[in-house]
Amino acid sequence: LAAGPLAGRRIVVTSGPTHEPIDPVRYIANRSSGAQGTAIARALAGQGAEVVFVTGPATIPPPEGVEVVRVETARQMREAVLSALPADAMIAAAAVADWRVAEESASKIKKTKGGLPTLTFSENPDILAEISQMGDGRPSLVVGFAAETDDVEAHATAKRARKGCDWILANDVSPATGIMGGSENAVTLITEDGAESWPRMSKDQVAMQLAARIAQALDAV
Ligand code: C5P
Repeated sequence: LAAGPLAGRRIVVTSGPTHEPIDPVRYIANRSSGAQGTAIARALAGQGAEVVFVTGPATIPPPEGVEVVRVETARQMREAVLSALPADAMIAAAAVADWRVAEESASKIKKTKGGLPTLTFSENPDILAEISQMGDGRPSLVVGFAAETDDVEAHATAKRARKGCDWILANDVSPATGIMGGSENAVTLITEDGAESWPRMSKDQVAMQLAARIAQALDAV
């Protein structure tokens, strides 16, 4: 049986990008590597938690010692998260596509002389907002991420309120920071008590600190 401060806790972690199909051979994606979500899942499992790791097509392998659920689209990710509940906590580290192509073409879209295809989009479900705003069965701690390029604290504080989650881990993903796709992160933790900036450290260290904070918070519930 697992030992550690998170023993007996079940935690759902979303991670990686989503792929939204255009036709059988093409999709829309984003640059998320899945590094921070993977590190968080590893740290939580290391502290004894039972982790369900719901991952989009990431470029790095999932951690050991977690239950891996592989998905492609935002809608599949939502289904997988709902199926993984009930849980004590949910950490939404995935870079979920905000939009999907409204009508995926069943056959490959062909080049036509002088013609260009037009893509129409639909809004994807907001998994973090939905779980945060659940009534019965809501995990006691719901944590989201905010990748911002300016006014990080203000935008992240507004995002916490809008989504209804307990915490937001905000990071500055301006290209100059090298954070997106890199191995380091500089985060600000936004809780109901305000904002707390952590020094720049490796994504593994961010994950360990977060896991320790999650253990504290769940013990206090
Ligand atoms: O709204 P925005 O995409 O900036 O919010 C980021 C946070 O919301 C992340 O925690 C991300 O995992 C989560 N999210 C989600 N479902 C979406 C969009 C974002 O769970 N469709």
